[in-house]
Amino acid sequence: MRREFSVDGFQARLSTRYIGQRLLYHSSLPSTQDAARQEAESGAPEGTTVLADQQTAGRGRLGRRWVSPAGANLYFSMVLRPDAKNLRSLVMIWPLAIALGVEEATGLRACVKWPNDVLVGSRKLAGVLIESTFSGPGVAYAIPGIGINVNLDASRLGEISDTATSISIELGREASREEVLAAVLGRFEALYEAGRRGEPVHLDWKARLDTIGRHIRVTFGDRVEEGLAEDAEPDGALVLLRPDGSRVRIEAGDVTLRE
Ligand code: BTN
Repeated sequence: MRREFSVDGFQARLSTRYIGQRLLYHSSLPSTQDAARQEAESGAPEGTTVLADQQTAGRGRLGRRWVSPAGANLYFSMVLRPDAKNLRSLVMIWPLAIALGVEEATGLRACVKWPNDVLVGSRKLAGVLIESTFSGPGVAYAIPGIGINVNLDASRLGEISDTATSISIELGREASREEVLAAVLGRFEALYEAGRRGEPVHLDWKARLDTIGRHIRVTFGDRVEEGLAEDAEPDGALVLLRPDGSRVRIEAGDVTLRE
């Protein structure tokens, strides 16, 4: 069933100090990333969130398309102004906040595939895209964009039916988008503030990573590395043990399992 997103219902559940307190809701946008970037450029306060019921040109990591039909899922982007030293931690904090928030709102347990996909089993439930703009040596702003498959039913998965899932597919019942969004933003604010205080946010992210201990292939640009994912470092980099016994540190890429 298609239900309108209720901004009032979301605001009634939101318990954050500033994350998501300014919510700009649109029934349709090409991409929430571009709308949030415009907000950032015009001085929007940190935590400003642009949410769309549907995107006509939703984009994912590595130039991929993000399937964004109406009435089912969450598509949102946020204005953040992190210090340069906290920028990299967003890659870890966001998928962790999504996994914790989804679990809090629905009871569904999700894990993280390095670096920031949220999976249930081997299927993708949510994705994170982080676009940053620099000003001299500092970060002017970062725009994290989050897509969470909430009530997308199996018949509407289309081109992503082999690789994706949704909360409703996993639970066999629909979930409240308002509750999921409020819970995810609550978890994000707590983690973001912990990171700013210098707390080691990577540890909980690492505990949710299902990539460690697996034989994987990582593709980045035109490079491919294969080996055992041995560890993840405090800055989010993956440590891969190659078949020849050497180790390589990988900062970004696309992982596929070899087993
Ligand atoms: C990924 O490839 O896993 C990242 C997907 C990010 C999708 C979200 S949906 C909201 C925001 N707007 C976009 O166009 N993309 C991000």
